[in-house]
Amino acid sequence: MRAQGRFPEVRPRRLRTTPAMRRLVAENRLHAGDLILPAFVREGIDEPVEIGSMPGVVQHTRDTLRKAAAEAVSAGVGGIMLFGVPEFKDAFGSAGTDPDGILQQALRDVRSEVGDDLIVMSDLCLDEFTDHGHCGVLDSEGRVDNDATLRRYAEMAVVQAEAGAHVLGPSGMMDGQIGVVRTALEESGHVDTAVLAYTAKYSSAFFGPFREAVGSSLEGDRKTYQQDPANRRESFRELELDLAEGADMVMVKPGMPYLDVVRDYAERVDVPLAVYQVSGEYSMIENAAAQGLVDRDAAIMESLTGFKRAGADTVLTYWATEVAQRLRGL
Ligand code: PBG
Repeated sequence: MRAQGRFPEVRPRRLRTTPAMRRLVAENRLHAGDLILPAFVREGIDEPVEIGSMPGVVQHTRDTLRKAAAEAVSAGVGGIMLFGVPEFKDAFGSAGTDPDGILQQALRDVRSEVGDDLIVMSDLCLDEFTDHGHCGVLDSEGRVDNDATLRRYAEMAVVQAEAGAHVLGPSGMMDGQIGVVRTALEESGHVDTAVLAYTAKYSSAFFGPFREAVGSSLEGDRKTYQQDPANRRESFRELELDLAEGADMVMVKPGMPYLDVVRDYAERVDVPLAVYQVSGEYSMIENAAAQGLVDRDAAIMESLTGFKRAGADTVLTYWATEVAQRLRGL
């Protein structure tokens, strides 16, 4: 670092004097196009259903999802990540591979609405579709069966690509999932369908509110497949594997408690890096703001700017459309 002299000639506060000066010297900026909106679509409802655990977020009908996607396009949002909530679940998560399952229908709806103006992504995981709520299928002992689950993911990859997803987001933390999904896409001719790997996905209490959002039936936890919050080195191992298996983009999830991992990845990868500001992070800020504890809009912008500063390229956030509108003065 260059010698910079010292006080009183040197005064960092000179660069903080006015909003215009602060704007000029800001090292990181949010852009609408960096933001990805996670959205829920529920089968068999006529009106959107509010999610009590996530104030301001709804389970969409197919129709209101189309509108939300169109609104995201107008706001300049970069992408939308779809989660399906089926009417019927079973042990295999059959609705997840049914070409007419709710997620596949929603993908077709949204693609016909937005074409290529918004990157349409789909969560590739079984937990929304299984009656036991795990991210995979179970063996005879009731344990999540990694390799049997991979066969289900390969099928999901093909139906989701066929339904029009530009990007698939395998989020189940099964070993080998990225390779299996890539191979299934290649073999079915979907060579341009990209894979956003949930690479460092931690077994997190901050997913709590999401469980209501997708009507999860999970009992117990996901500790045998999601990462232990205590581990950093292990996230490098996951990263190496996902890149070797062909991930086009990688993700760290949740966001705020794992900013160190975001920074680690930013220094190591040469693919785009995403971070997911999860349901618990969202609801904590909304609830704190509702109680007058923090300035809502400022807290939202600060949390998102923190991800950019840590080195993320894109951010999944339930505030994507609202923030994009604000950034563009809409
Ligand atoms: C799994 C999945 C989860 C989330 C996204 N994908 C839940 C989990 O792993 O338990 C959580 C997202 C959030 O909390 O906002 N399909």
